[in-house]
Amino acid sequence: MPVLEEYILSHSDPEPELLKEMHRDAQVNLLHGRMISGHLQGRLLKMFAQMIRPRQVLELGTYTGYSAICLAEGLDEGARVHTIEIDDEMSDFIEKYLNRSEQKDKIKLYFGDALQIIPKFEDEFFDLVFVDADKRLYGEYFELALPKVRKGGFILADNTLWDGKVLEEPESNDWQTKGIQEFNERLAADERVEKVILPVRDGLTLIRKK
Ligand SMILES: C[S@@+](CC[C@H](N)C(=O)[O-])C[C@H]1O[C@@H](n2cnc3c(N)ncnc32)[C@H](O)[C@@H]1O
Repeated sequence: MPVLEEYILSHSDPEPELLKEMHRDAQVNLLHGRMISGHLQGRLLKMFAQMIRPRQVLELGTYTGYSAICLAEGLDEGARVHTIEIDDEMSDFIEKYLNRSEQKDKIKLYFGDALQIIPKFEDEFFDLVFVDADKRLYGEYFELALPKVRKGGFILADNTLWDGKVLEEPESNDWQTKGIQEFNERLAADERVEKVILPVRDGLTLIRKK
């Protein structure tokens, strides 16, 4: 780990034990363990939840449930995280940790395609949306989610620097880089929202609906 990152982590709140265990388990036993938000971003998500004090949070892309637990940690009593995961093979892994988490009752898990599920939240409005699913579809998630966000509410989009690849000409079949680049370009010109990219981890864009 780079020395500066070590310094940042050792001077920030520690990663809770359950999340540490989940993180280790994912690195060893899952194919894409590095997709997890991790210590720094997890503490940041909790802090954002505490700052925004959302009643309803929507997460696109649960994976292990790591970030859902971090968001839930920052919620007031009675507030909820609705998290959507397309891969139902993650169910055992997610349940294993969710069942041991103090945040369990604040998290509602949905299996399916976010593009199909978001329109079903007919009467639900969100104060905070965390977009962290398929990078090729960020533009579509954003357009579906925005009408469901309250005026003054926030969307956080993860991986928007995509390992620095946003600066390069993508290979013709690199649809993930193209998806992120296109999302960033359109968002920059989008007057419905305010936005700022934080160079944290893989890039986290903070978006506020006007
Ligand atoms: C980067 S991981 C999420 C990591 C998690 N949010 C965290 O920070 O710990 C992305 C997840 O999105 C899921 N995903 C991809 N496309 C999706 C879709 N259309 N709807 C819901 N989930 C999707 C993937 O299966 C994967 O588990």
